[in-house]
Amino acid sequence: MKKIAILLTALGVGVGVMAAAQADPASDLKAFRAYFQKKFPTVKFDDYANGFYPLPGMEIYREQWDAFNEFPPYELGLADGRKIWAKPFPNGKTYASCFKNGGKKIAQNYPYWDDGKQEVRTAEMDLMDCAKKNGATDKFLSADLNKDTKSRVQLAELTAAFYELSKGERVKIDLSKPGAVAAYEDGKKRWWKRRGQLNFACANCHMDLAGKNFGGNQPLSAALGHPVGWPAQRLGWARLETIHQRYRTCNSQVRDKPGKHGDKAYNHIQLYETYLSSGLPLTAPAMRN
Ligand code: HEC
Repeated sequence: MKKIAILLTALGVGVGVMAAAQADPASDLKAFRAYFQKKFPTVKFDDYANGFYPLPGMEIYREQWDAFNEFPPYELGLADGRKIWAKPFPNGKTYASCFKNGGKKIAQNYPYWDDGKQEVRTAEMDLMDCAKKNGATDKFLSADLNKDTKSRVQLAELTAAFYELSKGERVKIDLSKPGAVAAYEDGKKRWWKRRGQLNFACANCHMDLAGKNFGGNQPLSAALGHPVGWPAQRLGWARLETIHQRYRTCNSQVRDKPGKHGDKAYNHIQLYETYLSSGLPLTAPAMRN
């Protein structure tokens, strides 16, 4: 780890100019897109929906990724998720009954600000509440998702089945309510805050170091497009996982105590990241390194 810290110092990591700027979400979005366009002029906007694979220098990973996508290893987990999605609750209803349009073509608006509840809602939250409201008692509804991997993976599989129904839809996040903007600002603050023993912000790895190799063998993605492939299956994890589990791992990588799965802080980061990916097509579930 020390080696990595030295390496990163050598790469000249420092929080970019965007951090200091006080700006509204629309200006943030403009600056954020411009940042990556300048950094990677050959990468087309829509390609950012595919993780780090389209970035310059990632051709070897890209070939491997294309090969995996012929028979994606997440198919097994996704099939389980589809089963949970379709299985009737004790009262005979299904998940589709809780969602507008039966759950089709709506995930591009997640996470969203619920003005009645005054909170950011993720797909996972709506899915779990739907199940509880209809009398389901599956273990993942009450398990500690920080510790119980099996339950968390089940939730990820169900969420993947939900996102699959919106594949290709373009991210559109409604920040018209003051509460939504406040949650976005909180997410933004957390995104730019340095943390852990490495003293790294999300922005250090996913902006400054995007397209570089972390520790020599772990390429780093650009933040643009971050949430659109999740839930995703990493080769090493060999199971579908939630985006909050990804965030937890990123926190651990800077040697910080990870946040809690489903925590408000993560919901706000997710809202921030997703807004900044506005206009990109959903690709979840996806394969990732
Ligand atoms: C020390 C470097 C580091 C820091 C800091 C870091 N991450 Fe990551 N992150 C990684 C690595 C490594 C990966 C896996 C490779 C990739 O996709 O970038 C990753 C992947 C991700 C992904 C998945 C991207 C995709 O396309 O699949 C998301 C989302 C993410 N990080 C969000 C965050 C957020 C939010 C923060 C701040 C709370 C953060 N990261 C901080 C190293 C970091």
